[in-house]
Amino acid sequence: MPLRVSFDDFPTLGKKVNGKRLVYLDNAATTLKPKPVLEKMVDFYIGSYSNVHRAVHTLASRATVAYEEARMKVAKFLNADPSEVIFTSGATMGINLVVNSLLRSGILREGDVVLLSQAEHHANLVPWIRLSKFHGFGIAYIEVNEKGVLTEEAILRGKEYKPKIVSVTGHSNVTGQVIPLEFVREVFEDAILVVDGAQLVPHKRLDVKDLGLDFLVFSGHKMLGPTGVGVLYGRKDLLEVMEPFLYGGEMIDKVSFEEVTFNEIPYKFEAGTQNIAGVVGLGYALDYLEALGFDSLEEHVRDLTEYLIEELSKLEFVELYGPLDHSHVSIVSFNVEGIHPHDVAHVLDQEFGVAVRSGHHCAQPLVRALARGTKLSNFPNSTVRASVYLYNTKEDVDVMVEGLKKLKGWFG
Ligand SMILES: Cc1ncc(COP(=O)(O)O)c(C=O)c1O
Repeated sequence: MPLRVSFDDFPTLGKKVNGKRLVYLDNAATTLKPKPVLEKMVDFYIGSYSNVHRAVHTLASRATVAYEEARMKVAKFLNADPSEVIFTSGATMGINLVVNSLLRSGILREGDVVLLSQAEHHANLVPWIRLSKFHGFGIAYIEVNEKGVLTEEAILRGKEYKPKIVSVTGHSNVTGQVIPLEFVREVFEDAILVVDGAQLVPHKRLDVKDLGLDFLVFSGHKMLGPTGVGVLYGRKDLLEVMEPFLYGGEMIDKVSFEEVTFNEIPYKFEAGTQNIAGVVGLGYALDYLEALGFDSLEEHVRDLTEYLIEELSKLEFVELYGPLDHSHVSIVSFNVEGIHPHDVAHVLDQEFGVAVRSGHHCAQPLVRALARGTKLSNFPNSTVRASVYLYNTKEDVDVMVEGLKKLKGWFG
């Protein structure tokens, strides 16, 4: 079924930027927010807002019901148990929670090997790298090829490290490659599998049980929800034995001056006052996406990505990265020969109203690895990144491509 988006729901798209119609192609950084989601959040703040799980008054119980309803929506969306859904501030916090809690509970120990990929966002690199320095576990990498792609052969080669934990992105925020998670699970059948779903979950309904994921993290703001809220899915039996990451109110059962016992999962991982309206808003965003239909959304984004790649491939002065095949979804990174990505992004914005990202995209090692396959005279260690979502159209792609042709002419 074709995707039926009401553009009235996204008034930002009707705004002019530098006197031009806004063409928003920076969805991998964050998505726009639908007006109905924002309106429902305002209603929640006005009619049902209080702290959750604490007081017995009516507003508090309304807020608690709304908060726990959001948890149930997420659980249903992932095919998880609600006790396996932990609200975080985003994907970054989710990964930090996993690494720290695995260490504190002795599941990850000195001498163990954690296998990452070279295609990771810093959020799935830095916590492992830094904590390996203090705790003595090893890190190995699945290598990318010269286009920044993780091939099945490279994934298979990772087996030789005998990793205890495999932590990989589900969808690269630089190359747009969707990683074959079924294959990863098959290859590392005994490892604890952590998936960074920050880019994948906004585009695809995942069944965590079917895929055999042990942990999955994602952020609400990349899927129409508010900022400052995200989800960590964790396998129940692991969460039950894991030491919490943050300590404080609400995550406890009994506290004396000497000892503490913890609340049950998921609450033992939700210390302190949570981003209550953020969680509720994420639930509304999920309702919005479900109503549009994930299958239609996926098809729309795939068609648009194909068109984007096709049109960019016609420009002989553009170098493209990533797989450029059916596994390439929503995110397209490229460079323009002789023009720095920041200049490209600046001119696209100022002259054509096109918002794209430029830089290393919080994936410095991956972007540097692209230098191996470049034909550019001077690889800038960064790229321009265009990323599409449900409200983008082929006209948006055309505006950017025409802009690129003109700017190449201007820069000579
Ligand atoms: C693949 C990937 N992982 C993790 C993150 C971190 O997400 P957040 O900043 O919302 O925690 C991002 C954000 O761009 C991302 O693209």
